[in-house]
Amino acid sequence: MDSKLIMTATEAIKGLNLTNKVYLVTGGYAGLGTEAAKALLKANAKIIIVGRNAETQQKFVTDLLNDKSLKISQNQIDAEQTMDLGSLESVSKFAKHIYQKYEQIETLMLNAGIMRTPAGKTKDGFEIQMGTNSKLKMIPKIRTGQIKIKKPEEGASTQVFCSVTPYSELENGCYYADCKIEPSSKSSNIAGDAKKLYDYCDEVTKKYQ
Ligand SMILES: NC(=O)c1ccc[n+]([C@@H]2O[C@H](COP(=O)([O-])OP(=O)(O)OC[C@H]3O[C@@H](n4cnc5c(N)ncnc54)[C@H](OP(=O)(O)O)[C@@H]3O)[C@@H](O)[C@H]2O)c1
Repeated sequence: MDSKLIMTATEAIKGLNLTNKVYLVTGGYAGLGTEAAKALLKANAKIIIVGRNAETQQKFVTDLLNDKSLKISQNQIDAEQTMDLGSLESVSKFAKHIYQKYEQIETLMLNAGIMRTPAGKTKDGFEIQMGTNSKLKMIPKIRTGQIKIKKPEEGASTQVFCSVTPYSELENGCYYADCKIEPSSKSSNIAGDAKKLYDYCDEVTKKYQ
């Protein structure tokens, strides 16, 4: 796969057959998650869609099944559970359910997140952006400060590319944008900070693991 030529999520899975492979997509019923989910379905993958709003989630599943361009079957989608990233109890309950139900999941596409929301706190009392974006991911979110506005189908290409590319062809711990390794922000490279954050997340989630 030549990453330089990939522009959209659909192009990132072009030619692949993901039958019998299971992908978990958080926040799959909105924005980039929707486009990533559709791309994976087009390649015959099974997807677990999870968001915090059961009604929106079920409507999304109905829309997918009715979308004639996708031609997918009901058993390609698992949307029976919801999960609120703002609640460690909810995340823990969902993680246990998935662990028991599936022997193997190819990729956890941890796409759900928030950015520049009004001040607030999660149910567990963490600052809302930090609490929502890092609990399940356990790593800091890195942003590019990109100026070109992309369509969701283009924005979802990198997460799909990284999900379907064999692990041995990716570089662990690197920041990917436009389906290739890009430099990340200076602050994300401060020695020790990543470990400090990882250890902190580990500590505060201990009782839910
Ligand atoms: N769009 C971009 O250009 C861009 C660039 C860099 C990074 N990102 C990151 O990529 C991710 C997806 O971006 P997007 O533009 O697709 O965002 P989006 O359209 O706002 O979708 C975010 C998704 O996250 C879910 N979510 C938010 N809080 C949640 C919670 N507490 N529990 C469970 N789900 C929750 C939302 O569900 P609800 O509908 O229930 O709120 C929604 O499905 C975000 O993490 C964003 O920060 C986006």
